[in-house]
Amino acid sequence: IVFTEKQEALVKESWEILKQDIPRYSLHFFSQILEIAPAAKDMFSFLRDTDEVPHNNPKLKAHAVKVFKMTCETAIQLREKGKVAVPDTTLQYLGSVHLKSGVLDPHFEVVKEALVRTLKEGLGEKYNEEVEGAWSQAYDHLALAIKAEMKQEN
Ligand code: HEM
Repeated sequence: IVFTEKQEALVKESWEILKQDIPRYSLHFFSQILEIAPAAKDMFSFLRDTDEVPHNNPKLKAHAVKVFKMTCETAIQLREKGKVAVPDTTLQYLGSVHLKSGVLDPHFEVVKEALVRTLKEGLGEKYNEEVEGAWSQAYDHLALAIKAEMKQEN
């Protein structure tokens, strides 16, 4: 796999921008997830009993940050090593958490679309297809690793 320095830089730069307003972008991210797949709501402990996406919920923010941050870290690994290098214990944890929560393969596409839409929202005119491509590529590799782990634990 070829992940270029340019792609790595694009991912890092855009994460730096989104990081500056976590409450806003994590809310946007989850609103998009629920818009694309309303039924996904019940999988998340912090959404199950509410009608609206809660503002300033620590668990909601944590999940949004994890998805963005780990995708960013994956981009760095792809460029440096040409592969995903999440520590085994982390991957096992991710596999079991998602398996237990009832997450299925197609949900990863939903989250990817929500991530792309959130990037668009946050970057404004700095958003372009190259940015989207770099994030998508890194995300796909990370998602594949998590899905593989989920199948092993199943
Ligand atoms: C929990 C990361 C994709 C649904 C978690 C946790 C992490 C994480 C680190 C544990 C949070 C904690 O420490 O408690 C990621 C990453 C993803 C990803 C890096 C993709 C690259 C997804 C997808 C779904 C999902 C596609 C389903 C739409 C959940 C749920 C939980 C969870 C339901 C349990 C949260 C709760 O109810 O409190 N995820 N996740 N995740 N994730 Fe993901």
